[in-house]
Amino acid sequence: MPPNSAHIPARIAVLVSGGGTNLQALLDAIAGDDDFGGEVVVIGSDRASAGGLDRARAAGIPTVTQAVAAHPDRAAWEAALVDDLAAHDVDVVVLAGFMRLLSGRFLARWPSRVINTHPSLLPAFRGAHAVRDALDYGVKVTGSTVHLVDEEVDHGPIVAQRAIDVRADDTEQTLHDRIKTVEHELLPAAVRLLCQGRLEVDGRHVRVREESP
Ligand code: GRF
Repeated sequence: MPPNSAHIPARIAVLVSGGGTNLQALLDAIAGDDDFGGEVVVIGSDRASAGGLDRARAAGIPTVTQAVAAHPDRAAWEAALVDDLAAHDVDVVVLAGFMRLLSGRFLARWPSRVINTHPSLLPAFRGAHAVRDALDYGVKVTGSTVHLVDEEVDHGPIVAQRAIDVRADDTEQTLHDRIKTVEHELLPAAVRLLCQGRLEVDGRHVRVREESP
């Protein structure tokens, strides 16, 4: 895959629906790495109350909010979101706890440049309740997956995964907290590779190109 952005550093949009700890991990990683290759230029949400928006404001990064209910249908909602991101000339879109599905129209605007973090070892436990579903199933191992986004839910080519053990006394909260500490490493590392144009996608397979010396 050619370098992923028209801009150097790549212009990143982060979409959040919740507290934004993954967003914060990404911001911290970029702040501490002169060679990251990307900068967060806008943070978007479908919820005005998302804690991630407070983190954006604290970091002095512009925010946009598009609530689905504010539009006649999902297509109109998504088109408004695309317009917001395009207005910031975005190269890469990071879904960091963004609890909405995006259609092929959105993805076609940023081909192989939309990346998501999911709190399970895909393809196990897709969907919005991955941590609870893994606990209910009784698995002994779960983890974190970072993947490129396609039109199916939690399905696109996998960039990175890491497993963690499930403990006998885990609750959904304690397990999710431990998964998040893994996500906070994997997501920024994967976004860095994407921004640097070092992800080569071949069908379901993603290879990482070595850093040039
Ligand atoms: C993460 O575990 C993510 O994988 C899931 O939602 C959580 C978001 O957490 N989709 P945060 O808002 O980044 O703290």
